[in-house]
Amino acid sequence: MALRNIVKKGDPILNKVCRPVEKFDDRLAQLIDDMAETLAKSGGVGLAAPQVGMLRRVVVIDVGEGLIELVNPKIKSKSGRQYTVEGCLSCPDDWGYTTRPKVVTVEAYDRNGELKTYKGKDLLAKAFCHELDHLDGHLFTEIIEERVDPKDLK
Ligand code: NI
Repeated sequence: MALRNIVKKGDPILNKVCRPVEKFDDRLAQLIDDMAETLAKSGGVGLAAPQVGMLRRVVVIDVGEGLIELVNPKIKSKSGRQYTVEGCLSCPDDWGYTTRPKVVTVEAYDRNGELKTYKGKDLLAKAFCHELDHLDGHLFTEIIEERVDPKDLK
């Protein structure tokens, strides 16, 4: 495993649409392992492949309940609403309130090409939406409704 550099806002790669994964091979496993290690060191809850410079539809999430790896993820359903503070490893200076669904169901492949379904509530639902947006070139800063000074979060 190896740490990868996290791309910061302003890099055009963060605004591109990622391609689906077609080969479930060792390179994919390596990418997922590297992303998991990079996420663990970062203190964040989620990381999408474009944030490490790879235009692939791959996401890792850990909200404290173990690592979830998502390959070619799709949102199957969403319900409810939450209005909470959101941040992003690629946007260290941006924090703010966003509106997201409260419950989100995602379907995705794992590294072995097995299709799985995940139901996320609260923080996990928010992470699913935030990370899947990255795969389509969208940053949460586009939907901040009320900015928050990071000093006030400490
Ligand atoms: Ni992000």
